[in-house]
Amino acid sequence: MSKDFFCEVVSKTMLNEDTALIEFLCPEIANEAVPGQFVNVTCSNFLRRPFGVASVDRTKGTFKVGVKIIGEGTEEIASFEEGEGTWVLGPLGNGFDTSASDKFILVGGGTGVFPVNFLYEELTAAGKNVKVVQGFRDKSQIIMNKPEYLLTTDAGDSGLKGNCCDGLNTLSEDDISGACVLCVGPMPMMKAVSSWAGEKGLNCYVSLEQRMACGIGICLVCVCKIKAEEEGVPFEHKRCCKDGPVFDSKEVIW
Ligand SMILES: Cc1cc2nc3c(=O)[nH]c(=O)nc-3n(C[C@H](O)[C@H](O)[C@H](O)COP(=O)(O)OP(=O)(O)OC[C@H]3O[C@@H](n4cnc5c(N)ncnc54)[C@H](O)[C@@H]3O)c2cc1C
Ligand code: FES
Repeated sequence: MSKDFFCEVVSKTMLNEDTALIEFLCPEIANEAVPGQFVNVTCSNFLRRPFGVASVDRTKGTFKVGVKIIGEGTEEIASFEEGEGTWVLGPLGNGFDTSASDKFILVGGGTGVFPVNFLYEELTAAGKNVKVVQGFRDKSQIIMNKPEYLLTTDAGDSGLKGNCCDGLNTLSEDDISGACVLCVGPMPMMKAVSSWAGEKGLNCYVSLEQRMACGIGICLVCVCKIKAEEEGVPFEHKRCCKDGPVFDSKEVIW
């Protein structure tokens, strides 16, 4: 069950000029969160702001979120310093099913690299076979990278020149065969990766990002269109926060 916790900031690292990685002390969230879930962080603006869990340390009882500054809320949250605290609701939403396969291809772009980092940590700790493709606009945007990842940049100033799908196309038949694809990033990226996975006959799950308010399924601000199971009904509305944010990419109406 999700609860509201007053969480102290135990560390903060600026990953680049507009993105902070913040570590909060909260054993309950650290123990309960699974990759793909998010937390709703209080700031002095009216609504809380949602962030995907980027990492947990269950021994220390901490979890991390990455915060890219795009407006007033994220600017305030990214300015929190060690020793300060705020109310955090979580963990929220349905995460990825990491038991779905023994072999995964993870694809991350934009702030999607944070949940992908958590996925990578959990899947490798579980001994699964994992390939990661990360895509950025250019070298200045690269964050949360690891040497073993396949890196792509649109500008071609670091890693492979191109987008995530160009990166996916360099994977071997052995890497691809039977893998489950998990993708978090901007909508056009997830749409392209979903169609790449479809062509290869692979299962693919994506994490949708909608504007959110309550984060717990009450306000309906975050509804998205998902293919309906009932025959003759083209789609149904689902709440991204409560029914998602992770959905089977075949169900998403892009
Ligand atoms: C499930 C989920 C997980 C998220 N995970 C992360 C994460 O790990 N790291 C991270 O940095 N951000 C993440 N976000 C996005 C983050 O919540 C927003 O950037 C933040 O709420 C913006 O608050 P603000 O007050 O700074 O900006 P605002 O002043 O509210 O908005 C500034 C501008 O950004 C647009 N905007 C705001 N929120 C969103 C959104 N969700 N999608 C698209 N456009 C938006 C607004 O329309 C406006 O143009 C996530 C969002 C969701 C729904
Ligand atoms: S944010 Fe309120 S229902 Fe999803």
